[in-house]
Amino acid sequence: MSDDELGPNTRLVHAGRRSEWTRGPGMAAGIVNPPVWHASTILFDNLAALDEARRHPDAGLFYGRRGTPTQWALEEALTAQEPGAAGTKLYPSGVAAIAAALMTVIRTGDHVLMVDTAYEPSRAFADRLLKPLGITTSYYAPGADVAPLIQPNTKAILLESPGSLSFEVQDVPAIVAAAKARGVATILDNTWATPLLFPAIGHGIDFTVQALTKYTGGHSDLMMGSVTTTKRWFGKLKTQSYLLGYCVGPDDAFLALRGLRTLGLRLERQGASALTVARWLQQHSAVARVMHPALPDDPGNALFVRDFKGASGLFGFVVKRGERRHTAALIDDLAHFGIGFSWGGYESLILPVELDGIRTATTTDSGGQIIRLSIGLEDPADLMADLAAGLDRYEAQF
Ligand SMILES: Cc1ncc(COP(=O)(O)O)c(C=O)c1O
Repeated sequence: MSDDELGPNTRLVHAGRRSEWTRGPGMAAGIVNPPVWHASTILFDNLAALDEARRHPDAGLFYGRRGTPTQWALEEALTAQEPGAAGTKLYPSGVAAIAAALMTVIRTGDHVLMVDTAYEPSRAFADRLLKPLGITTSYYAPGADVAPLIQPNTKAILLESPGSLSFEVQDVPAIVAAAKARGVATILDNTWATPLLFPAIGHGIDFTVQALTKYTGGHSDLMMGSVTTTKRWFGKLKTQSYLLGYCVGPDDAFLALRGLRTLGLRLERQGASALTVARWLQQHSAVARVMHPALPDDPGNALFVRDFKGASGLFGFVVKRGERRHTAALIDDLAHFGIGFSWGGYESLILPVELDGIRTATTTDSGGQIIRLSIGLEDPADLMADLAAGLDRYEAQF
């Protein structure tokens, strides 16, 4: 049986565990997790070994920037989660991973199509760094037909589904088909779904990016990103990453790999709890709308049901009245929700969201203040009781 035919949780547990990376002196089978190799300098036995390594720098340990078994185990384990992928490179953050994927494909004079609902720093990279380099970007609404938007010099489409902060689902297979017909590369920020809920390479995406900072790390204690791609692009991605000098520290790689082993269980639980909380919020008198693609009345639900294997734990809701300042009554005194950026950790978070200034092809009027929740591993009953008290405090202001 090939690894691609194994169940996703079996792959999560076993991928990247080569005994040659985990064996100590005199051991046959090795230990369970790869040791944390702290290395800049690699020592060679003699001149012949040094020259051989120079000829084949990817064949084994060469220099710290090219990684050690700690980083290789994580890369291999991530690649194994995406049937059809050829390899993965690691980056110091999710944003660095998105930038690296784009820079692998585009050159001066090229054009990028980016979904309007992309993570704001992805837009900032395009507008503030690519533009001065002579690379233009246009933004499309997540429901748009991209075929007529592809220009002769369009080289990449950057997708994110569901969209950051407002959770619109894209028709990824239709966009992939339009892109392939014109030789345009597709890059998907797949952080929300991870390969477990949306195996992007299998859906024809060329580059799938994850902010490992979120669900893979899973414990709110590391920053990292990954790009996984196909045979066609992996050599170019590797070269580009090497030229830009990207590498990640072994301690963080170890933590990300440790997080990956339990990703399936955490996603299942956090996704189920989030849906319970989302359904409960739908019934609440203070809530105008819940933005969660797994809800049957969500505008993205048909695409979601068709393409996704499940939902993760991040979604939003809109409160009926008031402005941003009123949200203090809701969020300030919650017992189980931290107020903070990021998401995907084991603990629940809450954040008021602003779309102004980060949308140009879609409306920023969501009908009220958006509140984003990242649901953690707490018991949903406790989370709902906490939110109920917060929404009472909120409503008492009017
Ligand atoms: C959808 C999405 N993509 C990418 C990132 C970037 O990840 P990082 O913070 O590791 O750079 C984030 C971070 O919030 C995100 O929400």
